[in-house]
Amino acid sequence: MLVGDKYFQSIWLDESDPSVVRVIDQQKLPFSFEICELHSVEDVYSAIKDMTVRGAPLLGAAGAFAIYLATLEINSATDPRHHLENAARYIISCRPTAINLTWAVNYAMFKINNRPSGKSLSEIALETAQEICNKETENCRLIGKYGLSLIEETSKRKEGKPVNILTHCNAGWLACIDYGTVTAPIYLAHETKIPVHIWVDETRPRNQGARLTAWELEQAGVPHTLIADNTGGHLMQHGMVDLVFVGCDRATRKGDVANKIGTYLKALAAYDNNIPFYSVLPSTSIDFGITDGITEIPVEERDPEEVTKISGISGKDIVTIRICPEETTAVNYGFDVTPAKYITGLITEKGICKADEAEIKKMFSDKFQ
Ligand code: MRU
Repeated sequence: MLVGDKYFQSIWLDESDPSVVRVIDQQKLPFSFEICELHSVEDVYSAIKDMTVRGAPLLGAAGAFAIYLATLEINSATDPRHHLENAARYIISCRPTAINLTWAVNYAMFKINNRPSGKSLSEIALETAQEICNKETENCRLIGKYGLSLIEETSKRKEGKPVNILTHCNAGWLACIDYGTVTAPIYLAHETKIPVHIWVDETRPRNQGARLTAWELEQAGVPHTLIADNTGGHLMQHGMVDLVFVGCDRATRKGDVANKIGTYLKALAAYDNNIPFYSVLPSTSIDFGITDGITEIPVEERDPEEVTKISGISGKDIVTIRICPEETTAVNYGFDVTPAKYITGLITEKGICKADEAEIKKMFSDKFQ
């Protein structure tokens, strides 16, 4: 996507020094646009842990690039197999909820273990990381096309009045290498002059909505309004939301969806108000091996300080301040699970289907065993 007049993806190989992977620093946005260099497995681990790099498809791409960087760390003193397997386990352990990370690291290891003769470990690992970036970009492009049909229908029904879409967290291009999942249909609608307006949940505790989604929409000139996380239900009761589009970190084979904490409450409010609620996801976010989201998806617990403190800009500095009494304890679950029964449909790269095992199986029969 364009930042100013320059095209960026959210991760790429430094062409002038192929031992370096570059990423947009999502911790600094929207206050400053900075690029970070990743030189090692440890660098990727830290970038994922501190959320410099975040969002399910990007986590997958970063994981695959970590395996590539691991191949560059092999020297005469290392056992290649052990080194790569340790790196894979280490990176996967970094964030447990998004299945994309596990999937991409395992896929990179599979490609390495089954490489054709004549290809080096580094060549095959790099090719795989780049294949994943291209695949996720293409997934988002196709998701955009299918999601657009829902916005078009709603726009016709509203006789051209702006279509109000509520979103939570950030499932935009920063999280997905390019286009975004939730944002791909929105960009297409905006480009084709269908009036849209986006309600952006701030998304406490880390404020990915306020900091990242609002910034992305601003860059693309898409009309949007930032709201406090608790506002959605009120807007829905007053006819001010037409569609809810949210991302996904892990969906099950029957269509339960884990996404940023607070998504479930938006789904309940949408259900109560008869508002279509869609999870927008590439198939790389579906864990075809599990059925029940509430019992089978591991939910990441993060540092309670993300709840007791808040970061923002003061003058030129990004500062972090406490927002509660010093002795207050907090808990910080990163994700929640929305049961399939509250989800109107899944918008995927293969089309739109019900959040239902039979329908998902029809669309992704090759992934079911
Ligand atoms: O903790 P985060 O910021 O990585 O959480 C991200 C989300 O919940 C996104 O909605 C999800 O990764 C989808 S990205 C297409």
